Amino acid sequence: MSKKTIILAIESSCDDTAAAILEDKKTLSNVVANQEIHQQYGGVVPELASRAHQQNIIPVVDTAIKRAKIRKQDIDAIAFTKGPGLLGSLLVGSSFAKSFAMGMDIPFIAVNHMQAHILAHFIDKGKQIPSFPFLCLTVSGGHTQIVKIDSPSKMQVIGTTLDDAAGEAFDKSAKILGFPYPGGPLIDKYAKGGNIHAFTFGKPKIKDLDFSFSGLKTSILYTTQAEIKENPNFIAENKEDLCASIQHAIVIILIDKLTKAIKQTGITQIAIAGGVSANSYLRNQLKVLARKENYKLFIPKFEYCTDNAAMIAIAGYYKYLDKDFANQTETPSARLLF
Ligand code: KG4
Ligand code: ZN
Repeated sequence: MSKKTIILAIESSCDDTAAAILEDKKTLSNVVANQEIHQQYGGVVPELASRAHQQNIIPVVDTAIKRAKIRKQDIDAIAFTKGPGLLGSLLVGSSFAKSFAMGMDIPFIAVNHMQAHILAHFIDKGKQIPSFPFLCLTVSGGHTQIVKIDSPSKMQVIGTTLDDAAGEAFDKSAKILGFPYPGGPLIDKYAKGGNIHAFTFGKPKIKDLDFSFSGLKTSILYTTQAEIKENPNFIAENKEDLCASIQHAIVIILIDKLTKAIKQTGITQIAIAGGVSANSYLRNQLKVLARKENYKLFIPKFEYCTDNAAMIAIAGYYKYLDKDFANQTETPSARLLF
């Protein structure tokens, strides 16, 4: 049997410092250090994020190697996030990866963060994986895309947001309700006891497969401001209904466009990826749709939805098989496209 490939991966595109080790497609360790410093500012502060990455990166990598029960010398290649993301944050990960590769004399591999979110579907799996081509709704704090995937190295964005991302829509709505950052998971939590039809908000009219969330955010802001004038306790008294209605409005926008993409392409294998794919209502609504229409649905494990380095490692593994290596002149790219 041929030797298995051991990849160390680093993810530092935003506010999580992460390292993971995969042996072929199997996770040996997956470590994430969250940066709590940003909560008090209501969003990620780029300068603080890069400083925290600097502090976290060595302990996080050290923990990943120890948990994987391997030696540094066993690592065949190091993969890192080239972009998109915050430049200062990306620089910490890419500089670390370059030095590590040079010191250990192993290849290093540049990975696109958004493609990695999609390839997370292939981690730790046996036969329960999508076959090509499939469609993926990639929904995170920075992106909202519908992607057609023909192979691990051939992907095409067929729809994207024209303004805010779905995660931003969750987080900005949560901020209006007075929740700390990131508010998406809190909306998910409080929505469980609420009525999805209690409030209705403006629906975007965007053509093709593109999305828009900025109008929804304004509609939520005006509705709450008007209600607060009448009743200063409006938000506290209607928290669950507001969360359920906001969540429903965001999820309907996503599902409408995904349904349109399925109809247009004729592809009925669908996947979701990115932080917002952790949302329980989105997951449930997609399950209902898939059952009704006989689509094949793939939902990643919870720990591979939000930012993590295991997804960077699996993307790196496919590039390793193609010998698609970077060289020491490689630089991160904040606005990296596919
Ligand atoms: O993919 P991710 O971890 O980081 C980016 O690359 O942006 O996504 C983070 C986003 C945040 O906007 C967060 O609020 C959202 O994912 N998120 C959720 C949930 N869990 C994370 N949004 C709604 N419901 C959730 N359960
Ligand atoms: Zn992400």
